[in-house]
Amino acid sequence: MAVYLDNNATTALDENVLQAMLPFMGHVCGNPSSVHRFGRLQKDAIEQARESVARLVGARAEQVIFTSGGTESNNLLLFGFSRQQLKKKADARIAISAIEHMSLLEPAQHLPLAVDKIAVDSNGCVDLTALQQATGPATALISVMAANNETGAIQQLAPLVEYARQQGCFFHTDASQAAGKIGLNFIESGVHAMTLSAHKLYGPTGVGALVIDKYLPIEKIQFGGSQEKNLRAGTENVAAIVGFGKAAELASAELETRGRQLRALRDALQAGLKKFTAVTVFAEEAERLPNTVQFGVAGFSGETLLMQLDRKAIAVSSGSACTSGKTGPSHVLTAMKVDDALADSAIRVSFGKTNTMSDVDALLNALRDIIEINQQSSVMAANV
Ligand SMILES: Cc1ncc(COP(=O)(O)O)c(C=O)c1O
Repeated sequence: MAVYLDNNATTALDENVLQAMLPFMGHVCGNPSSVHRFGRLQKDAIEQARESVARLVGARAEQVIFTSGGTESNNLLLFGFSRQQLKKKADARIAISAIEHMSLLEPAQHLPLAVDKIAVDSNGCVDLTALQQATGPATALISVMAANNETGAIQQLAPLVEYARQQGCFFHTDASQAAGKIGLNFIESGVHAMTLSAHKLYGPTGVGALVIDKYLPIEKIQFGGSQEKNLRAGTENVAAIVGFGKAAELASAELETRGRQLRALRDALQAGLKKFTAVTVFAEEAERLPNTVQFGVAGFSGETLLMQLDRKAIAVSSGSACTSGKTGPSHVLTAMKVDDALADSAIRVSFGKTNTMSDVDALLNALRDIIEINQQSSVMAANV
């Protein structure tokens, strides 16, 4: 049996989520914008899902805007905010952390407003000093993710949000990886916008949300309809939204048990990794997601390790970023000032709710074999 340890990339659809979606993928017909009973049934299903998603992140239902996923939510936030700012303050600037997901970093390169990068420390965390250094009177929006998809480092957002509010700045957080893994409270956190993605929490791909505070100045960037509070035009994908709602409902109910189970796997893996002298765990000092460990193995390339593990039927992710057809060390590890060779050897393990201790053992045994064989061949090569 193959072992899947790449749950930060995507999770398997929960069987209960699939069952909730099926009626909306079959014969239940109707456009949610239609006023007849068929339409109303679809609309009701969307509103129920909105309540469940809101409950998961401590928001009000009316603050949840459904989108096609985390990528669209990040684009809507950046471009929708910039369109508004341009009308009022064309010299406004946006500050984003250096470790954001590409779905935020890449659109940021195409904005009509100037963008500043916020540095992180060696554990991949943004602190208040770094935020103060990257921002100024012209900064109108700050974006710092809730938890990083590679290292799992959880950002301490409270002092950053407090500072942003004192400066009259709006604050966005990409919580695509955090939601369903750690507790979140949109209203209490004081952030003005939050990105979510369903397929990171056992929901379907192609659906997510941007949660927004009513004071956030934002306008739509896609035209052709007034769906989703006139912020996201297009007939809703009801089945996917229903699936997101069900996944959020399950995540709320199981947050603690999942957290406990995942943390046990992560800690066991980390304890096992400590026995390999060639291994360095990244962001080790940071508070991290319960399911994520990213580490480098000196003398290896992450891609080679990934392929060797795949040959042993274990699926992980390498830390290298494939940008413009070139592979290289991940921008996250580079921002943490990890040495290039070590960053290039990075492997990310992200557990999911069906993983067990035997998966941890399988990975540790496979790594031991790979590292030992490599050491033996180095000794043989040296003796030739
Ligand atoms: C932190 C983060 N933001 C955004 C995304 C993009 O989400 P989606 O795949 O739903 O577009 C991902 C997906 O990997 C992610 O990890």
